[in-house]
Amino acid sequence: MKKKVTVHTPGTVANLVCGFDILGLCLDNPCDIMEVSLCDEPGVTVSSKDGFSLPTDPAKNTAGAPLIEMLAELGQPIGFEVTITKQIKPGSGIGSSAASAAGAVVAANHLLGSPYSKEDLVRFALFGEKVASGVKHADNVAPCIYGGITLIRSIFPLDIVTIPAPALHVTAVHPLIEVRTSDARQILRKQVLLKDAIRQWGNIAGLVAGFMKNDYDLIGRSLEDVIIEPVRSMLIPGFDEVKEKCKSAGALGGGISGSGPSIFMLSKDKPTALAVEKTMQEIYTRIGLDHHTYVTTINQQGVKII
Ligand code: HSE
Repeated sequence: MKKKVTVHTPGTVANLVCGFDILGLCLDNPCDIMEVSLCDEPGVTVSSKDGFSLPTDPAKNTAGAPLIEMLAELGQPIGFEVTITKQIKPGSGIGSSAASAAGAVVAANHLLGSPYSKEDLVRFALFGEKVASGVKHADNVAPCIYGGITLIRSIFPLDIVTIPAPALHVTAVHPLIEVRTSDARQILRKQVLLKDAIRQWGNIAGLVAGFMKNDYDLIGRSLEDVIIEPVRSMLIPGFDEVKEKCKSAGALGGGISGSGPSIFMLSKDKPTALAVEKTMQEIYTRIGLDHHTYVTTINQQGVKII
């Protein structure tokens, strides 16, 4: 009989405004559901339960590619069958590709009797991000696997630090346009001015210190990006207005979620997070752009075996 496991694999917010490619947090909602089976037949198959068209070649699939790497390292004549029920829309900026990659490797590790550490699982999951965006960035897969907020101090070699934080409420809006991470990376300037780098370093350090000291004001002040946001925000209709009005509604701050088009805001309490959601809805309804919103909290567990 085949051994099978089901996992809930959550969405994530990468960058956290100032920390391009190095900071990310895990969300309680939305979540994909994945079923993974261990089989005697070598190889990997991936299918979708809800009609999402996924690449049929597992090497080009964000869940398949990490499993192919894992099997190559194991060197055993076994295989995996993966079925995905997607709730995190691809191209939304809420870590859809990372959820598939992280869910696949956590489930496979469980089926194998847990031979791998979380850091090993991030190493495998990065192959999924490479397929999705052409680059191994860990700021979605690391928080998805570790839960909470993670700092990727280094990617080669991997050095992942979990950052404790006070209770925070996350509001996100996904305007229903698609921004491909590869495109959103392509348009970035390759060089930065020293004065901008200094300002960004201050913000990253301030944000991490704010999380660790439970200092909400410092968190809010540090949610500023002088390097990536000025370029990418041009891809997101209504971005400046959403940011300004959500802060007036009480949000500590926020910005582009990952490579967009979703925008996220952090708030101290749920009533504020709900007021921020209403503000986002009003703006996109007025602009006439379909959208989804989420009001959620930080998921401390990451991918969950169910
Ligand atoms: N750090 C990546 C980027 C995250 O901004 O391109 C993509 O979700």
